[in-house]
Amino acid sequence: MSTRTLGLIGSAAGGLETLRSSLVEPAMERGWRVAVTLTPTAGTWLDSTGERDRIERVTGLPCRVQPRMPSEARPHPPIDCYLVCPASSNTVAKLALGLSDNQALTTVCEAIGGQDVPVAVFPRINAAHARQPAWDSHVEALRSAGVHLLMGCLPLHEPRSAPDEDLPWQQILDVVEALVPIR
Ligand SMILES: Cc1cc2nc3c(=O)[nH]c(=O)nc-3n(C[C@H](O)[C@H](O)[C@H](O)COP(=O)(O)O)c2cc1C
Repeated sequence: MSTRTLGLIGSAAGGLETLRSSLVEPAMERGWRVAVTLTPTAGTWLDSTGERDRIERVTGLPCRVQPRMPSEARPHPPIDCYLVCPASSNTVAKLALGLSDNQALTTVCEAIGGQDVPVAVFPRINAAHARQPAWDSHVEALRSAGVHLLMGCLPLHEPRSAPDEDLPWQQILDVVEALVPIR
């Protein structure tokens, strides 16, 4: 059985603070290798608490924020599935529009367009984000591009009210595992 690699993309939304303990380590316990990329704001948040260094130590891979130099090799191995979690309303909007102005967005936009690696997105939003007039069209654009939006399919997910520790982390990993059969 070959090791599957999860490309975990974190943005600056609730739940990011516990990314390592809530998602990275549980995914590794399930046998995944995990390659983490953060948006610039998410990188700032996790740098400030030392969590970015801890993620690198646990995964054995760089926790990416900045794009590589053209002369540098890709720092992450090939990815079997991408998971954007938590996905801020800002990151969801940019993905829907195909904007790639940071490494996290570049990675996911290429995966969405490439169509050969599944992409799952768990939006962590509040009521104001959901009522923003463009929100529904962003969600629809991503769905129609084949992105797996983990809001409708997770009955426990209450994006407007759930405290971060109650987010359905294990269910999110269950969905990801179902997208990538073990070879
Ligand atoms: C303490 C704090 C918590 C936040 N939580 C959320 C959140 O849960 N969801 C969200 O969409 N935005 C949230 N935001 C706003 C985003 O961080 C902001 O829109 C940011 O620009 C997102 O950047 P990114 O998508 O590039 O990571 C929060 C901001 C702060 C300061």
